[in-house]
Amino acid sequence: MKFDKELSIIQQKIANGYAGVSRRLAIMNSIELEIGQNVIDIGCGGGHLVQEISLGVGENGKSIGIDPSEDQLKAANNRCKDLKNIELICCTADKINIENSYCDRVTSTQTLEYIEDIEPSLNELKRISKKNSKFVNISILWDYFRFYGPEKKLNDTIHEAFRAHCFHQMLPLDLVGKLSTLGYQNIQSENLSYLITNRDKNSPAIFYEKMLAKFAMSQGVSENAVIDWQEQLSRSEKDKKFGFTSFPVLTTAYLK
Ligand SMILES: C[S@@+](CC[C@H](N)C(=O)[O-])C[C@H]1O[C@@H](n2cnc3c(N)ncnc32)[C@H](O)[C@@H]1O
Repeated sequence: MKFDKELSIIQQKIANGYAGVSRRLAIMNSIELEIGQNVIDIGCGGGHLVQEISLGVGENGKSIGIDPSEDQLKAANNRCKDLKNIELICCTADKINIENSYCDRVTSTQTLEYIEDIEPSLNELKRISKKNSKFVNISILWDYFRFYGPEKKLNDTIHEAFRAHCFHQMLPLDLVGKLSTLGYQNIQSENLSYLITNRDKNSPAIFYEKMLAKFAMSQGVSENAVIDWQEQLSRSEKDKKFGFTSFPVLTTAYLK
């Protein structure tokens, strides 16, 4: 999925709300930040985490964000414009213009699953990481990402179309073996799943609904079917039968 202007705006709204705040909290709790560290966020999007890390590592540290989407980086630049210890680079994770063994921490949120051939990117992240550095990743188990409420056949059609939005539906399961092969140790996975039963204006459900609707149409699902699905979601909420589940997983590891 390409994060063009419209999708970037939806994605940044997700990052502003519960889904974004809760995962940044999980990362900050596990990343073991110290003053003076160099930290990189891979696929930094609108720069929320880059901004928070910048404050966490202080003036002598560095908070770097990379993202290939110019729309996302523009928003990140705007968010971080008053911070001096920030570097935002427009690039993909497999080719980062940073010297070997520069980073004390490498983090990424809902990004690695969008990279088709992930090995070159993981090798690149290892190259820029110091010995004893920590890697902290959040990716979603997309098989468990689901709306509940609409009639099953239509709901299945929309979710089936959405599978094409990323290359790795269950990356947290594969990541353990891939990191181990690269020499990472003490690899741990933590469940960050959540369920919400409303569609209020800041809920991730409402923004993910828009994302699925847009994506399903790009995959050939008719506009009428998508409108019908959204109306059914709305009715199911009124009938107190609405639900949305997501299953992010936090993976941590040390490079020895
Ligand atoms: C779902 S967004 C997540 C943004 C941010 N990490 C957050 O949680 O708010 C995924 C981001 O990954 C970026 N991305 C896609 N392919 C990438 C690649 N090969 N290397 C680095 N970033 C990539 C996209 O441009 C997008 O901004």
